[in-house]
Amino acid sequence: MSTEATSPHSTSFPRHVAIIMDGNGRWAEERNLPRLEGHRVGAKSVHTIVTAAREMNLEALTLYAFSSQNWGRPADEVKGLMELLKEYLLEQRKEIMENDIKLFAIGDLGRLPSMVRSPLEELMADSKNHKSMTLTLALSYSGRDSIVNAAKALCEKSANGDFSDKELCHEDFKKCLPTNELPPLDFVIRTSGELRISNFLLWEAAYSELFFSPIMWPDFRRPQFEEALEEYKKRKRRFGLVGSQVESGGDLAPPRSERNGAPSWP
Ligand code: FPP
Repeated sequence: MSTEATSPHSTSFPRHVAIIMDGNGRWAEERNLPRLEGHRVGAKSVHTIVTAAREMNLEALTLYAFSSQNWGRPADEVKGLMELLKEYLLEQRKEIMENDIKLFAIGDLGRLPSMVRSPLEELMADSKNHKSMTLTLALSYSGRDSIVNAAKALCEKSANGDFSDKELCHEDFKKCLPTNELPPLDFVIRTSGELRISNFLLWEAAYSELFFSPIMWPDFRRPQFEEALEEYKKRKRRFGLVGSQVESGGDLAPPRSERNGAPSWP
């Protein structure tokens, strides 16, 4: 059975949480501080939430750290963010290794300066066999780009005769996404009160539960994370079905042939 066809699991605790860490700039501006100070305190929240997630035995945590649109910000902010990423990777290396965390990254990593790319690639390679939690950093990331890249990869396979486009199904498409190895995305949190998805994990979030917190990211720490997870517990996930079908459990996935038009599975 494919991972797509997994039956809806317990909603009490998610397997995979993704966070849009928003509000660093406003947090700083409200305190008459430079925007970069907001990012600096935001990096402390990253450390706190990664530690909390690991302690809670979360399987996968994905953080939107830099979007492909963020390259358009003022040069000194981009430079400051790259410096913070480099510092994070160097300073947290020991903790990531000691806590059996697998570091992974999605996005156009080739655009990153080598001061970020080198420690990133090194830590990804060194932690690749870790099993306790996967920490994915979305860097220079665009959800639309990853969909277009998947489409390009499939066109290439089709042109090479590796598969027929008539057979194309969600599962084939998903395999071409950079998140393919991660568990289904259960829960997306966005901080700062903004109510948008901002080009993040567009395919993956199709059936995710969404949570919007009014708290700015630098103030988002363990109690706020726990509160969000409490809210997740209350959600009733139905994946387009009716409650009684979900409650009965079992293999509710539609047959492969039906999966393109009808409910898509996480
Ligand atoms: C959005 O806030 C946040 C970012 C664009 C960057 C997020 C970066 C960090 C949390 C720190 C570094 C990351 C790691 C992984 C160590 P914003 O600047 O858009 O805030 P605003 O909407 O209030 O302006």
